[in-house]
Amino acid sequence: MTKIRSVVRGTGSYLPEKVLTNDDLAHMVETSDEWITQRTGIKERHIIADGQNTSDMAVAAAREALDRAGKTIADIDLILVATTTPDYTFPATASIVQNKLGSSHGMAFDIQAVCTGFIFAVATADNYLSAGMAKCALVIGADCMSRILDWEDRSTCVLFADGAGAVVLEAVDSPGDPHDRGVLASTLRTDGRHWEKLYVDGGVSRTGAAGHIRMEGREVFKHAVTMISDVVLDVLRKGQLTLDEIDWVVPHQANKRIIDGVEKKLGIPAGKVVVTVDRHANTSAASVPLALHEAVKDGRIRAGDYVMIEAMGGGFTWGASLIRW
Ligand code: ACO
Repeated sequence: MTKIRSVVRGTGSYLPEKVLTNDDLAHMVETSDEWITQRTGIKERHIIADGQNTSDMAVAAAREALDRAGKTIADIDLILVATTTPDYTFPATASIVQNKLGSSHGMAFDIQAVCTGFIFAVATADNYLSAGMAKCALVIGADCMSRILDWEDRSTCVLFADGAGAVVLEAVDSPGDPHDRGVLASTLRTDGRHWEKLYVDGGVSRTGAAGHIRMEGREVFKHAVTMISDVVLDVLRKGQLTLDEIDWVVPHQANKRIIDGVEKKLGIPAGKVVVTVDRHANTSAASVPLALHEAVKDGRIRAGDYVMIEAMGGGFTWGASLIRW
């Protein structure tokens, strides 16, 4: 049966200029390059400049994705911004991005699923496109986690950072089989029982302030590998593919040990996993599209490849999508 598929037309990304190394952090809190590298795999990260906002990074990533897709903003009728760090409480950062890109048509809204936000946004865009609600979507993950870090808490401030990534998805009539290009299957999950294990201790209706990240690191670690592995297997089942047929896994870049744990549990060859956490750290909703764009730009991901994207984060939320490039 024929099906409308959401085909990737282009990717883009943006990283702020300022680089903060582990050694820089060792001058700010009691930590060391050795501790951070051993526990997380992170060596350095990018930090947003004063006066720069989430929408600025989102717009830069979006422009590159549009260029590489051979599209203009006039072609876009759906903009989704996955973010935990919006410019304003309202409107949605997607409205600001739409305006900065010079568009006033179609629809634009934000998705809040913390580090899993980009996967939720891809799956949401895919459903809008396949239902005929839109023809061409700009899906962005953008976060400035540095603005909600407690810079005196060494257990969190070494982990997170800033950036943005974007993809353009276009609705294409397809045969409806596993050989189609586009998003083939997605699984999204939430289990709110775990919310206090990773949260920000402020918010509009509770404190009137943004607050800071609080995390039970060991608890997050304990659940991450199992949750991510479960959704990867579920998406493979839905997509009628085996792990051997997957060309690239692009995981959320939270921690190299979580990435390695999933690799080991599922038996994924290391050469098929895209890793940027060493240079980007955890950029929340931006991490997967940043890694995707890097692997597309350097020629690893090519047309026809099967690509698995996956993430887990606050909520807890977790999810995966299978895309044929
Ligand atoms: N530098 C030096 N020492 C530190 C630091 C630091 N930056 N942070 C914590 N420590 C100390 C602790 O105080 C503790 O000291 P103590 O033994 O004297 O009490 C010691 O190191 C061990 O602390 P733990 O928290 O038990 O360390 P652990 O081995 O669990 O590693 C880490 C911590 C890296 C956060 C780990 O739990 C982890 O990776 N968790 C996953 C969290 C994550 O990735 N979150 C991202 C968001 S969720 C997501 O995106 C999936």
